[in-house]
This record gives sequence, structure tokens and C-alpha cells, in this order.
Amino acid sequence: MAFRVHHSMQNSLWFLSSSRFYSTIQSQRVHSRNQKYFCKKSLSSSSFSKGVRYCSCNATTSNTDANVSHSNAEAFVLTTPLYYVNAPPHMGSAYTTIAADAIARFQRLLRKKVILITGTDEHGEKIASAAAANGSSPREHCDSVSQAYKLLWRDLDIAYDKFIRTTDSKHEALVKEFYSKVLANGDIYRADYEGLYCVNCEEYKDEKELLENNCCPMHLKPCVRRKEDNYFFALSKYQKPLEDTLTENPDFVQPSFRLNEVQGWVKSGLRDFSISRASVDWGIAVPNDDKQTIYVWFDALLGYISALLDDKEQPNLQSAISSGWPASLHLIGKDILRFHAVYWPAMLMSAGLSLPKMVFGHGFLTKDGLKMGKSLGNTLEPTDLVHRFGSDAVRYFFLKEVEFGSDGDYSEDRFINIINAHLANTIGNLLNRTLGLLKKNCQSTLAIDSAIAAEGNALKDTVEKLVEKARQHYENLELSAACEAVLEIGNAGNVYIDGQAPWSLFKKGGSAFETAAKDLVIVLEALRIIAIALYPITPRLCLRIYTQLGYSEDQFNAVTWNDTKWGGLKRGQVMAQPNPVFGRIELETEANNAGVSTKEASKKMNKMPKTQKAVEA
Ligand code: MSP
Repeated sequence: MAFRVHHSMQNSLWFLSSSRFYSTIQSQRVHSRNQKYFCKKSLSSSSFSKGVRYCSCNATTSNTDANVSHSNAEAFVLTTPLYYVNAPPHMGSAYTTIAADAIARFQRLLRKKVILITGTDEHGEKIASAAAANGSSPREHCDSVSQAYKLLWRDLDIAYDKFIRTTDSKHEALVKEFYSKVLANGDIYRADYEGLYCVNCEEYKDEKELLENNCCPMHLKPCVRRKEDNYFFALSKYQKPLEDTLTENPDFVQPSFRLNEVQGWVKSGLRDFSISRASVDWGIAVPNDDKQTIYVWFDALLGYISALLDDKEQPNLQSAISSGWPASLHLIGKDILRFHAVYWPAMLMSAGLSLPKMVFGHGFLTKDGLKMGKSLGNTLEPTDLVHRFGSDAVRYFFLKEVEFGSDGDYSEDRFINIINAHLANTIGNLLNRTLGLLKKNCQSTLAIDSAIAAEGNALKDTVEKLVEKARQHYENLELSAACEAVLEIGNAGNVYIDGQAPWSLFKKGGSAFETAAKDLVIVLEALRIIAIALYPITPRLCLRIYTQLGYSEDQFNAVTWNDTKWGGLKRGQVMAQPNPVFGRIELETEANNAGVSTKEASKKMNKMPKTQKAVEA
């Protein structure tokens, strides 16, 4: 059983007491102070009316009007977790960042000023041990793994705005300032602690959460018993303010089913947690006590704020805050929800800072039902996937096929089938065959404005409804449903062209020829809209579609979500030569090579999908 002996105070403002009565009074005081703070800020800088305790920043809600009214005025700041650098990134770590990038791209299409923050979490025991095991110094080790993250983000077309490393000096300065504020608020005290520690989680565990032999349920490795003299953060003091925050702002934790979990933790009673380590050197020294370093989570969460600082700026909280805090959205995996939805808000309240607008906890990518992870060693190599199939395929598969918020399993067969069916066939082939017909019959030139061509046309109505559906899904972070809505536009385009059979109409000549020429314009306009609506998910593919439609890259870069309105393509616009925008992934099998092509034989053979790269080049 973990226990704590309170033996000295770093300051005397806050006295830890086991008495519920005392802590309730304290909570009420904190509560009213924070409420006042939030109210004041909220009145001065926000039109967000749902919760009076929050200030400023855009809400990612389903309410479009609310978003539009914030548009341009404030930045949409979203964050990925800061990844541990104990090992190179894997597909599980890439997943949050791909989702964050898609959301950021969508928000940019809405013409919001977006700041996408990512980075690496580089302190703590786990990192120091990984460096030692590699035979390198912690610094060298962090430099190399942090760089691997940057390279992967480049390969996956992640357009981040800020990359923070928790070993950056500006970050260290901010952590110390923050610590001092919390200390001055009377929320830090010193005590002994004994408990079971999971190094992989970097967290003391409750014995009742553990499996046999005190194994961590996440990492399936035994926790180690530790006894330390640490500084503690008075989390218990924030029990009531947190309960109220969660009740008054039900959107704070998303998806909504995760809110219940968080409310459950808070209701079951919050215990103070240790925020320093006497046994760990690789970390930021505790102000006024260089024998201890700051607990890696207390340090890392502040990366969301220090990331906002420009390198040339004075590294202080005030400057960082004024550059975009509070964040609109923290995207995280469900395993780190407690840190983000309980510890972090309490820390912010203690320092008198605003809370983020929303914390979204997504599910896990699994392999054989187990969380894919560095500790279990059952990972999928994202760089390998990108090199074989291209970044669009990887981004599309995980965002479309894993419902954002739930777990999802990976299988290569499913990956190839989905990508071929959706991107190569439904969208790529529709474009290719329409352009082929246009080239053959209309010299690749549009005969009529798309707005005129579609007067009274049912496909136009369908596309308008679907693109609006996609927009709403993006707003609500339902990325899979957004993909589905765009894909339905492609399906509707295929049904339309097959039904109209313009290849026969062209042969008939006269008015039938005109109808066929009109039909091609209608389908190409639908594809133009797809290219904008799918851009957050598959930016490269969408650029290729747009340039096939006769636009320049600069024109593509200037599009906004408004351009999804029907009517962009105009008479006389000349399309590019038809060139497949997305090649099918072919499975070469030894069986095929040997001239045997039965399904049975190919299943047994080594599959070697052809790379997508040639098509993308
Ligand atoms: N360093 C902390 C985060 C600090 S944020 C201030 C950390 N790092 S981590 O590298 O272990 O995990 C980073 C993120 O990757 C977490 O959100 C985690 O949920 C996510 N994933 C790691 N493996 C995953 C899967 N298999 N599937 C989906 N996401 C997973 O925690």
C-alpha cells in the first residue's frame, strides 16, 4: 500500500490535512477564486457562452455560427502529446499527429489562424535508462530520437507550426517560473512517499489497479517499489473546482463517454501527487533544491505553453500566454487522459492560468488486440508504410478506418483493399475516366460553366448535402465520418456517370453530345469539391486532382472551405492530360511470377505491394 508521511513544508501556506472538512473549505476558497478569475477573462475576451469559467479561444463545437464569429480573431491552437524519446516513433505515436494535422488543415481551410504544436518529452528515468542502454549520453540520445520524429512528420506531411523539446532552455525557464507560482500559491509541500512505480508510465500506481506480480496493466511489466522524499502538488485542494469544471463544461472532455471516466476519478477522491524525484538526475532541477528534479509529467505538460514562445522572445509565462494560450484542443491517447483532464487543469488553476477548451482522448491502434507500443515491442513502422504506400494512403487508412475515439486494429490486407477501393477506384479512376472522355470528345476543354450545367441536377444537390455533412463531421472531430461523406460524393459521381453513359451519348451526336459534355463538367465539378473536402486527410492526392483539373499549385494553396460551393469550374477551362492520380497497390506474388494466379496460391505466397511512389512523383 502506498503511503505518504508529511514531514516538512516548502512553504506554509498550504497545510496538508487528511481531514475532509479542512480540504473542503480550502477547495471552496480555491473554487470561488478561480471562478472569479475565469468569469472576468470570459467576459472580456470570449463570446463562448456555455461555460463562464473559461476565457477566450475558439470552441471546436458543432455550432458553426459560434466558430464563424471567432474566425480570424483568435488562433486555433491544438496540440499533440509530446512524445517520449525512449525509442523511435511508431504508428501508434504517429496516429495522434496525423489526426491533429488533418484537424489543423481543416481549420486553416476555414481561414482560422492555426497553431499546431507537437514535440518531444525528453526528461525522466525512462529516457535516461534508454540512453544508457544505447551507450549514449541522454542529450545525444534525445537529439537523435527527436530528429527521428521530425523526419517522420516530414514523411507524413505533418505541417506543424511549433516543435517543442522539453530540453529547450526556454521550456526549462518556463517550468521553473510555473513551479514558483504554484509554490507561492501554497500548493507544494514536502513529504515521504512509498509506492509502486511503473517506469514506462512514469507514474506511481494504485496497487488495486495492478495485475499479478504487481504488473502494470498497460505495459505488462512489474512495478518497482520506491520510497522517496519528494515535493507534492496539493491536487486534493482542487477536487471541488474540478468537479464543477466538468459539470459546467461537459465538452471539456471528449468523446463524451470519456467524461464519465474522468468524473469517476475525481469523485472517487483526488490524492496529492509527487512532482519531484530525488533519484532522477535527468530533469529540470527543483528551484531552490538541486538535489531533486521536477517530475517528468509536471515538466512536460508545460510544453504546451512554452511551445508558444518564439526563440527570440524572453522566456516567461506572460509572453507565452499572450501568444495563444489557452489551447483550443489537446489531442491525446486515452492512456494519458488523467494527466490532461485532472492533473493539468488543477496545475493551471493553481498558477492562475486559463484551462484548455477541450481534451480529446482517442483510442489505441492495436495489434492482435494489444495496444501497439514501444514497451510491448509490437509496433508498426510508419516510415516503412509511407515508403511503400505513400503518405496519403497511410493518413487516409488510419483516419477513415479507425473511428476517432475508439480502438482500431491494423491488417495489411485491409489496408490494401481500402486504399485500392476508395482512393484508386472510387476517386482516382472516376477522375481518370472522365478526363479521358473529355480529352477524346471535347479536346480536354469544358463546354459550359459547372453552375449552368447543374441547374436542376440531382447530383449537385447530393454533393452539396454531402460536403456540408463532411464539414460538420470535421468540426465535431468525426474524422472517419468526414472521410465517408467525401467518399460518398465519389460514389454518387460514379453512379451518375454510369447511369448517364456519356460514352454512348457522344457517339449519338447532336443534343445527346451536348448532354454528355455537360455530364462531364458535372462530374469534374464534383471531383473539384472532393479535392478540397478531402484535402485535410490526403493533401498530396488532392493537389494532384486539382492540377489535373487545370489549376496551378498556387491556386490550390489559396483554396478555402468556401470553395467547396458548387460552381468553381468554368466554361473554357482546359484540363490537364489524364494521368492516374492514385495508382492501385498491386500485390506481386511469387505465384503470379511463376504464372500461377489462383487466389489460393497467392495467399500462401509472400506479398510484395508495389510502391505508390512512382505515381506520386
Ligand atoms: N510523453 C507523454 C506525453 C506527454 S504530453 C505532455 C507520453 N508519451 S508517449 O510517447 O508514450 O505517448 C504519446 C502518445 O502516443 C499518447 O497519446 C499515447 O496514447 C499515444 N500512443 C502510443 N501508442 C499508441 C497506440 N498504439 N495507439 C494510439 N495511440 C498510442 O505519453
